[in-house]
Amino acid sequence: MPNPLALHLLHEKQKMSDTKICCNPKGPIIVEGDVSITDKYGRPLDAGKKKNMHVMCGCGQSMKKPFCDGSHNQGDDDDDDI
Ligand code: FES
Repeated sequence: MPNPLALHLLHEKQKMSDTKICCNPKGPIIVEGDVSITDKYGRPLDAGKKKNMHVMCGCGQSMKKPFCDGSHNQGDDDDDDI
């Protein structure tokens, strides 16, 4: 009979491998996968409409931290990010 702990750990490892984090040098950090975003007390933060994709602020300018609000684009004509 399979060890329940080993099965649990295997399942957790498989879930983690489904998570993708893409860092944009101009700001946003895109987190895709089954993750929960919480504050420092563990309370869930409302990440918006898409549950499996989160756009996090990496530039420090967002007024909706930890989420990106597009402020990183101010004064930048380059539209290659979100
Ligand atoms: S990355 Fe900071 S506002 Fe978008």
